[in-house]
Amino acid sequence: MSKNRYAHKPETYTEPDDDNPSSNLHFSDILQARVTRRQTVIGGLSATTAALFGSLSLSACGGSSDNAPPATTPATPTTPPPAAKPALNFTAVGHSLDDIVKVPAGYSIGVLYALGDPQHFGDASWAGGGSETAESYERRAGDHHDGMRFFGLADDGTYAASRSDRGLLCLNHENITQVYLHPAGPTTVAGVRPAAEVDKEVNCHGVSVLELKRTTGNALQYVRGSALNRRLTAASRFAIEGPAAGTARMKTLYSTDGSATRGTVNNCANGYTPWGTYLTCEENWAGYFKRATTDGARTDTASLDRYGVKTGQAGNYGWSTPTGDLYRRWDTSATAAADGAGDYRNVANTFGWIVEIDPFDPAAMPVKRTALGRFGHEGCQPATPVEGQPLVFYMGDDSRNEYVYKFVSKAPWSAADKGLAAGAKYLNEGTLFVAKFNADGSGNWIALDKSNPALASFASNADILIDTRLAADAVGATKMDRPEWTAVHPVNGEVYLTLTNGTTAVRPQGATDAANPRPGNVNGHIVRWREANSRADATQFQWDVYLFGSPSAEAPGYNLSALTDNNDFSSPDGLWFDSRGVLWIETDDGAYTSTTNCMLLAATPGQVGDGGTITAGGGTQTFKGANPGEQNLRRFLVGPKECELTGIAMTPDNKTLIVNIQHPGEGGTISKLTSHWPESQTNAGSTARPRSATIFITKDDGGVIGV
Ligand code: FEO
Ligand code: CA
Ligand code: CA
Ligand code: CA
Repeated sequence: MSKNRYAHKPETYTEPDDDNPSSNLHFSDILQARVTRRQTVIGGLSATTAALFGSLSLSACGGSSDNAPPATTPATPTTPPPAAKPALNFTAVGHSLDDIVKVPAGYSIGVLYALGDPQHFGDASWAGGGSETAESYERRAGDHHDGMRFFGLADDGTYAASRSDRGLLCLNHENITQVYLHPAGPTTVAGVRPAAEVDKEVNCHGVSVLELKRTTGNALQYVRGSALNRRLTAASRFAIEGPAAGTARMKTLYSTDGSATRGTVNNCANGYTPWGTYLTCEENWAGYFKRATTDGARTDTASLDRYGVKTGQAGNYGWSTPTGDLYRRWDTSATAAADGAGDYRNVANTFGWIVEIDPFDPAAMPVKRTALGRFGHEGCQPATPVEGQPLVFYMGDDSRNEYVYKFVSKAPWSAADKGLAAGAKYLNEGTLFVAKFNADGSGNWIALDKSNPALASFASNADILIDTRLAADAVGATKMDRPEWTAVHPVNGEVYLTLTNGTTAVRPQGATDAANPRPGNVNGHIVRWREANSRADATQFQWDVYLFGSPSAEAPGYNLSALTDNNDFSSPDGLWFDSRGVLWIETDDGAYTSTTNCMLLAATPGQVGDGGTITAGGGTQTFKGANPGEQNLRRFLVGPKECELTGIAMTPDNKTLIVNIQHPGEGGTISKLTSHWPESQTNAGSTARPRSATIFITKDDGGVIGV
């Protein structure tokens, strides 16, 4: 049975906006249109395949003709080097519903940093009953560990990209399992939350920076008391830079010149920069804000509605209910007579950005980089930097029917640049593009700025960046099934994107027909593309579907990538290539959880165009990459009960893998706990409350992970 991913969220939690009202084509429509068109033009599976990928395969052997040129002719790609194919070398982990983390034989895990763990010596260890003070969470691990990145640390405190025995781990705390943070769960008195409870929940959001060191073998521990340890929370001060900074729509009572804001929330996936800073991504921020039912008569209603800050919404967890400016800031209602500088009507405009943090400078104020657009940011993955060329970052907007973006810097890359000054140079000026996936297998990156006539109705580039979703609607971008993480292949530069799932309400599983091979797409898929001429800043690309999620027991017409018990999965979310070209896939699932808890898989993919067409159940044909087989896709880890696997990092020597176990036991109550992890990992009789935690995985013989 499938279950709603948010079934266990508190009533005050607002689901991500999934009702993009624009009429742009949905990705599954295009998939179908693409197949239909090719079948009409050519007919026959092998001919279809040859035509679809002909320009790629022909260019590889020096040819140039294509008997059915696409309507939008992509630039002839330069043949990339063959993808690295390291051989996976571990025994697959089976499905598991147990309340422990399972890894392959010959591997071990350790818990590194769990909810409430103190960063410094002045605070006591986590006591287990929700007794920790709100204030102490300014120095403790927050909740819902998510995206993260390991930065090697030199002895002089600077970035050392190849160092594995010492480093800084930056990790996101996306959200909270509210019930476990307080002694008897959350309380409300006459509609008002106690300020101390709100403060604790606010401080459990944000980001941790944590110094790590190796201990025995390749095991890791965090350095308690390190001057580099840091917490940023939903109350910390953030600078705002880039084209939208200082404009009228960024002004608030807190920052009347629109240059700063308080807090970062719902930090989901992450990114990093070539100069050694961390990028954290604000995803489902819209639900945190209150908006009065009487707030409908303002000029920016279309923007608020499009992002899901809707009239009448109470705001997650009731954070706006206590008295005082600290709480009023969660209320976006227009109340003052003056412009936005007199109230918090614009506060939601200061969320939804990519945020840059310099982990090596604990005193440096983090910066919200508005040039990269405002949406439900899932991640921000750089293309491989090339000296003298612009830098490129890929980003998904995770809601149903949203889009995929990339940012291209104006400044060409110079490896000499460092720190937040480099951030200002590369991330404050450039062009934001949105993806259009064409029916013929080509794709276009469409610029979102005033140079595009389709955006003539926007007053300025700042308005386009604040209202990125509206701009993308206007240029006809392709609606996707919830774009999550992107990952860039380290050898051939191809970009992979998880599309986590669709909805069963529209097309329930079991209602398949020839025209709808993946009704509802409840198990998700992974698309990938190759930029024209292997230039990350190209405006055209070629794409295919790398992999379809599915239970192994589903019929071949649905289990389109022929997954087996050893590599089947559902709802791919976290996605990351290690330096060797191993692709790590993490799941955030609700559709296959009666069979197995969420998981981490390792894959060694080929490249765009290595597959062809298949016939789905009912005779429908579609295009996809080569079936991976267990040789190229294998389950590496299964998590404990009711968790999501998310966040992944590895030491540069590939000998210590780091992942996050998010919200184990999220569906439980204090009187009926549904998980006792991480204590259950070593104590089967545990009665402890569950905690989100970062874990590390090592190979018992001291070798590298996975291959
Ligand atoms: Fe926070 Fe898109 O998952
Ligand atoms: Ca995610
Ligand atoms: Ca997700
Ligand atoms: Ca999550």
